[in-house]
Amino acid sequence: MTMPQPPAPAEAGTQPTSTGVAHAAAHAASRAAAHPATQAPAQAATCGEGTLTVLYDGACPLCRREIALYRDLPAQQPLAFVDVSDAASALPAGTERAQLLARFHVQQADGRLASGARGFVALWAVLPGWRWLARLAALPGATPLMELAYRGFLHLRPWMQRTAAAFEPATLHVPPALVAEMRSNHAGETGAVWIYRGVLLLARDAGVRRFAEAHLATEKEHLRLVSRQLPWPQRSRLLPAWRVAGFLTGALPALAGPRAVYATIAAVETFVDQHYQQQLDQIDQLPAAEREAAAPLRALLAQCQADECHHRDEAAALRGPSPGGLGGAVLRAWCAMVGSGSAAAVVLARKF
Ligand SMILES: [Fe+2]
Ligand SMILES: [Fe+2]
Repeated sequence: MTMPQPPAPAEAGTQPTSTGVAHAAAHAASRAAAHPATQAPAQAATCGEGTLTVLYDGACPLCRREIALYRDLPAQQPLAFVDVSDAASALPAGTERAQLLARFHVQQADGRLASGARGFVALWAVLPGWRWLARLAALPGATPLMELAYRGFLHLRPWMQRTAAAFEPATLHVPPALVAEMRSNHAGETGAVWIYRGVLLLARDAGVRRFAEAHLATEKEHLRLVSRQLPWPQRSRLLPAWRVAGFLTGALPALAGPRAVYATIAAVETFVDQHYQQQLDQIDQLPAAEREAAAPLRALLAQCQADECHHRDEAAALRGPSPGGLGGAVLRAWCAMVGSGSAAAVVLARKF
């Protein structure tokens, strides 16, 4: 049944807050920036007559967990749950996806929207075990206080969201034999991000800075992708050391000039290409069923490897031929040290 839609629903003020309230709201902001459907025209949300419609961000691990708490409770009023992060989900008339992602909302049976703490109060009021919070919110001044707490939570949400995501199970199958390699990949991509941060802190050459900014974006994406497949407890315990090592590996050559930076990146990526290739070979040698299950992971690693090869070739071309004299000898020694240091780091990260 389609609920009658009022013209551009006015948001009922904002009220109470809980950690729950906070989550849903907070997600919205960051999701909004990344969501392609953010500017989608308003559509009518569908729900039953007399239904309280909960509009939540299903892309947020905090929201999902909170909604899971509510979903199976015997509510006193019919509830509908709409994941507004799903571009295909219908929205209440007069609303935009960005608006709904920016704060937690519920649509009441009469079509009015309540957002933030006030939205949570509307939901809690019909849920057994949560009604006491709604009663608390009815005390003078309680709802504005909850709303203040909710807004404070919104500032913490990005960090909380990343932390929660780090404990989510991997989305791809990672064969047990590859977990140690994934730990070293995660450590390596962390180091790569910090290499470019080191370069960008000290390099003044415009070409080097453009190079580092472009590569940093790719390495951040690698780190995000690898992180998604390696829950926090499986990550290297030496991550602070990898960050420092990466930073120094970028900052020191940046002091010496563009050629040193490009030579360093070419040396690092030469090693990284070989490291990814070892893992692809390892997957290819798994028993057929396991190899098939690991195919999506293999595709991910192959994509990372292709990017690293591009980085290596670009850096090698910019580096040019190896210079002679003492300067050339020092640079070659540094690059050899970078290559062997990368290999040693992988050995350590596999174990710790
Ligand atoms: Fe990378
Ligand atoms: Fe790279």
